[in-house]
Amino acid sequence: MKLELKQDIRHDLRPSSSADIRVVSNIIKDNLLSELNNKNTGFLINYPNSIEYKTRLDRNKYNLITELNDKIIGTLINFSSDEIQAQISQGYLLYEKGVLDFLFNLNDKFIWLDQMVIHPKKYRRMGFSKLMVEKTLEMGMRDGYMDYYCMISIFPETNIPSLNLFTSLGFRIVDTQKINNRGWAIMHKSLNSHVR
Ligand SMILES: CC(C)(COP(=O)(O)OP(=O)(O)OC[C@H]1O[C@@H](n2cnc3c(N)ncnc32)[C@H](O)[C@@H]1OP(=O)(O)O)[C@@H](O)C(=O)NCCC(=O)NCCS
Repeated sequence: MKLELKQDIRHDLRPSSSADIRVVSNIIKDNLLSELNNKNTGFLINYPNSIEYKTRLDRNKYNLITELNDKIIGTLINFSSDEIQAQISQGYLLYEKGVLDFLFNLNDKFIWLDQMVIHPKKYRRMGFSKLMVEKTLEMGMRDGYMDYYCMISIFPETNIPSLNLFTSLGFRIVDTQKINNRGWAIMHKSLNSHVR
């Protein structure tokens, strides 16, 4: 797999740790939950709470952080199916539980690409997210993960940048799901065709 940005910009792509909790949860809240949120959607503004963020940033092996000059400008929270089950058993991931149950009916070993943000906006459209998704597939494949899922908002707003991003990387919509009043497209990519 060829991993490269549109321009050659010196950056660092690294796993997350609990030290990232404050910066990452603020970036996600400011960019993702507020931008796509309105009071009719049912999206939970303070969800997940700081303890859940601490858990996922500390424990999830496949999370990725993009840094430029030692400053975080991008994040992608990834869960393996084992990490989802462990965190559900701790009482976490309640909002997405219905979607996750649906995924476990399809597959018992997968990676779920969850929250992704590039911030500030001036760093968008430079290929950083594409690189984080490709890196996730590369790391996952090394550990035997062949199936990758994500959920993209389609109602009341369609998240066109995300839909285009995942479609361009070979993800396809396999179902639509509702959580409260929000509609989500469930997207899937299998790496099985790459196996000879
Ligand atoms: C979605 C988001 C993470 C994409 O990050 P990004 O680093 O700008 O994306 P990339 O530069 O890697 O884009 C890769 C491809 O995605 C698609 N894409 C990205 N932004 C797009 C936009 N604004 N409009 C249309 N397509 C877009 C394009 O196909 C793009 O390839 P191209 O630039 O060669 O046309 C970013 O827009 C963001 O942080 N949005 C706010 C938070 C959010 O919605 N997160 C996703 C929900 S989990």
